[in-house]
Amino acid sequence: MILTSAPGKIILLGEHAVVFGKPAIALGIDLRLSCTVSEADKSTVNGYPLTYQYHPYIHTAMRDYWRGGPLSIEISSEIPSGSGLGSSAAVTVAFLAALGAMSDDFDVEGVARRAFNVESMVQGRASPLDTSASSHGHGIFVDSSPGDDLLWHIRQDSRQWYVHHCPAPELTFVIGFTGIRASTGPLVARVRRYVERTRFAAELVDEIGQITQEGMARLRERDVEALGRLMTRDHNLLAILGVSSRELQTLVDAALPLSYGAKLTGAGGGGSMIALTDRPEEVSKAIRRRGGIPYIVQTGVDGARVERA
Ligand code: MEV
Repeated sequence: MILTSAPGKIILLGEHAVVFGKPAIALGIDLRLSCTVSEADKSTVNGYPLTYQYHPYIHTAMRDYWRGGPLSIEISSEIPSGSGLGSSAAVTVAFLAALGAMSDDFDVEGVARRAFNVESMVQGRASPLDTSASSHGHGIFVDSSPGDDLLWHIRQDSRQWYVHHCPAPELTFVIGFTGIRASTGPLVARVRRYVERTRFAAELVDEIGQITQEGMARLRERDVEALGRLMTRDHNLLAILGVSSRELQTLVDAALPLSYGAKLTGAGGGGSMIALTDRPEEVSKAIRRRGGIPYIVQTGVDGARVERA
């Protein structure tokens, strides 16, 4: 029996723009998903038959990366699913880590590459941001050219990403989950149509890229005030791109007076927002009052781990 775990993530800056080759920063958080795998007579997930319809990521990972027999798979997660906090990346990463460990072949880079392939198969167009963040943990900075602290380089079609270790300080964020489960694929496709059709949307994407570059410098300097301002600007641009929602905006507005900055995180549409704050309890209360589900999280966590082999 193998037990692995992988963290959820927040995107600090650059979601959606990263799909077009712009930089992005993602941080692992201390909400984790665990995966226990053992050999069995038929493949099941938490006791139910493994099907593509209910478990598309595990089903695809098993089809493409497992040559052995049926498996009993148990998933338990602190990451709310469909919340924009990387639950599908974490399930893919933790399961692939378990498959690697079962063949005595666990390596984080291999897991990150395979997890990106699986996520692309299931979601359509994607970037390696979520899967690399969950694999590596800590922080990652994804860019279209190589720089210091390069972890790995991923290509797909004409696109490529250089995934770097991002020396992120330990920070406290409050997450506000709207309770609305939004799926990433259609939101990414909607932004793509907008960017392909209008120069205006392409310029918004460029501006998000510039904000993210600046954010990386502020993160290195631990300048939380400047970082917070950049997060809020990024949120406003994402809202113009059409991926915010009334519920997300309500939670961002509730958090802002008590925070350095706040923004939606992940694909948007529903899902979650994040606030960078040194008043986490008050922000949590404000989020709860407006109907959101708050989580106080810390960054600076390990990526995929084999807990028991
Ligand atoms: C989703 O968490 C992040 C997006 O940028 C999509 C992607 O990078 O694959 C919206």
